Amino acid sequence: MVLKYLIRKAIGIANITIFRQVAKEKRLILKKSLLPSAKMLIFVLEAYIIYAMKTISINIPVTIKEESELTADEAKLVMEAKQATYRSYAPYSHFSVGSAVMLADGTTVSGSNQENAAYPSGLCSERTTVFYANSQYPDIPVRRICIVARGTDGLFLARPITPCGACRQVLLETERRAGGNVEVLLYGTEYSYCLRSIKDLMPLTFDSSFL
Ligand code: THU
Repeated sequence: MVLKYLIRKAIGIANITIFRQVAKEKRLILKKSLLPSAKMLIFVLEAYIIYAMKTISINIPVTIKEESELTADEAKLVMEAKQATYRSYAPYSHFSVGSAVMLADGTTVSGSNQENAAYPSGLCSERTTVFYANSQYPDIPVRRICIVARGTDGLFLARPITPCGACRQVLLETERRAGGNVEVLLYGTEYSYCLRSIKDLMPLTFDSSFL
């Protein structure tokens, strides 16, 4: 009796073990066959998301000029901006920036960076210059701006000096106020960058059209 019971019990345990083993194998097979399909599905989904995403490209033409290629107006502004660097007040950074703008009637105005012991109270050359120009000649639009800089070694930079973000914002408003393009010349002794407009310095800007 006891022996029969033990044999039955042993067979039962063996059956359960076999059943579990089979179930495990079935799950493995299922996993193996589903994995590539799932991966493929994810790939297709990703490809679709990239395809469906709309993108815009902003193309900004920048002309590179050597000093000998500058127009007469450009060369005049470079000279005036260079002179302005010697009137810069930069006892803290020893980085002297000069700007010159040309107005629609040919008038030129230049200015330089003016620093302050309370650093943020100082002002960049570009803003000094356009604020002065607009305050002296509020009715004559600015047509062109040139920016140059001398580094801590006192020499004019070899590569073009590019204006800071705050100056770009102010220049943008100057351009809007001028009602036409303000051409930009970012000077370097080896080469300069020429841009058609202030907007080219700062695309996707905030301006009064939002207000
Ligand atoms: N600076 C400008 O005047 N214009 C620029 O475009 C960049 C920086 C001045 C501000 C500060 O007096 C000094 O350069 C160093 O940042």
